[in-house]
Amino acid sequence: MASSFRSERLMYCGLEDTPRDKAFIHSILSDRTSSENATNYLVKPASSADVDSFMRGFREAFLGVLVCIPNPSAPQTPSIIGYVNLQHTTHPHHRSCTMSIRIVPAAQGRGYGSEAIKWVLEWGFLVAGLHRVSIGCFSFNEGARRLYERLGFVVEGRTREVAWKNGGWHDCIEMGMLEGEWREKYFKVEG
Ligand SMILES: CC(C)(COP(=O)(O)OP(=O)(O)OC[C@H]1O[C@@H](n2cnc3c(N)ncnc32)[C@H](O)[C@@H]1OP(=O)(O)O)[C@@H](O)C(=O)NCCC(=O)NCCS
Repeated sequence: MASSFRSERLMYCGLEDTPRDKAFIHSILSDRTSSENATNYLVKPASSADVDSFMRGFREAFLGVLVCIPNPSAPQTPSIIGYVNLQHTTHPHHRSCTMSIRIVPAAQGRGYGSEAIKWVLEWGFLVAGLHRVSIGCFSFNEGARRLYERLGFVVEGRTREVAWKNGGWHDCIEMGMLEGEWREKYFKVEG
């Protein structure tokens, strides 16, 4: 596994059909708390079929990469700490994608999620020519909402009672960033 796709502390690698990458996806799917917070899947003990199905979806995404910390003593095996992906929300010519991100609990709260989101936004707007990127979080996930607002996402709406989790209904906060907003915040040309 090697990659020239880098940000300050992180590198971004394609998902491979290897025991190592499969084990990582299995561990992600088996993390009940993060899965409840982050996904609308039916959270249950993960099987190899679930891993295969996740990997298939990931490969079909517009962008699907593992978030890794480079390992200078073993450059071919960086430490995998999460994933991030972009999927089209509608027909590709509208250039609109939605983002999903997970950082493993041991690596959370150290700025890696922010760094990875900024990298994906730059890739999306500058490399892939997107016009908007959206992201959603459940109403109980105040930390994620704070983070996305800090990074420049704007709250656009609320899908009411869209998720059944642990015996109750929860809303989804829908957020988005337009290309022009990204340029204004991250890509100012010096005058
Ligand atoms: C949300 C997430 C991607 C952020 O990545 P991160 O590397 O932890 O984030 P950073 O260190 O860059 O930023 C820290 C901010 O992230 C948020 N955050 C940190 N840990 C979090 C957690 N376990 N769950 C949700 N948000 C968290 C907080 O807003 C925190 O800022 P604060 O100081 O204002 O509370 C990551 O914590 C995660 O994968 N959490 C579990 C799954 C999840 O909730 N995903 C979001 C789906 S919408």
